[in-house]
Amino acid sequence: MPATPRDTASAPAAPAASTPKRYRVPSLRASKEAGEAITMLTAYDAVTARIFDEAGVDTLLVGDSIGNNMLGYASTLPVTVDQLVVATRAVASAARRALVVTDLPFGTYEASPAQAHATSVRMLKEGGANAVKLEGGRRIAEHVRLLTGAGIPVVGHLGLTPQAENAIGGMKVQGRGEAAAERLLADALALEEAGAVAIVLEMIPAPLAERVSTSLAIPTIGIGAGVGCDGQVLVWTDMAGMADWAPRFAHAFGQVGEALAAASRDYVAAVRERSFPGPEHTFAE
Ligand code: KIV
Repeated sequence: MPATPRDTASAPAAPAASTPKRYRVPSLRASKEAGEAITMLTAYDAVTARIFDEAGVDTLLVGDSIGNNMLGYASTLPVTVDQLVVATRAVASAARRALVVTDLPFGTYEASPAQAHATSVRMLKEGGANAVKLEGGRRIAEHVRLLTGAGIPVVGHLGLTPQAENAIGGMKVQGRGEAAAERLLADALALEEAGAVAIVLEMIPAPLAERVSTSLAIPTIGIGAGVGCDGQVLVWTDMAGMADWAPRFAHAFGQVGEALAAASRDYVAAVRERSFPGPEHTFAE
């Protein structure tokens, strides 16, 4: 495993030794047990979902980060269930192998396990998601238990939980100091005990993420949490060099934004100079 991100422009990703035909919920734990790193990327539409699926990404997260990455919102808070249902349907329609996980948006699950159930049912029934992701620890353990019992797989999300950005006071590293670390570990154990199938760990110190990962039988998927997690997730626009600004923990594995800008410029120039459409694009009769 290289120590630094590599330039993958010409190198196809090597499939994990036990790569299943279809990555399903039990594959998460199987990957952890086999010591194979789980790959997750966000996806918000069918076009990119197909590309990521064919590249071998194990899990596609229809994140509420669609709000600040695609819809022009300042945060994830305004995102609605209807918006994520549409995005999930698009991603699920393109995913041949990847597991599709959809976020429950802010304000659509916190009040009660019954509210979480109603929202999750929409994500699976109308969107075609395979699992849902909820932010929070012990506070939502009963939600996780009810969903799990109802056949709805749940991915937890601890550390920096962007839906709580007002309470947290910004996008800050979480779990620093012994007391905060113990709280986070207790939250992770409670989610696992309630039935969660994996936990996203966002922006926490790497030693804490490693400690949580080795304390759980279910996998952790890190973002800004170091290499000791059982898998990694990135927002795809950060991964592809499409974002105006990206967090320090992200890495651009390509410069898709530049390629798209160049293609658009070429198109504009060709139309203006009337070299497009050419004879090969034209119906003579
Ligand atoms: O919504 C999202 O994209 C997420 C990831 C940052 C994990 O929750």
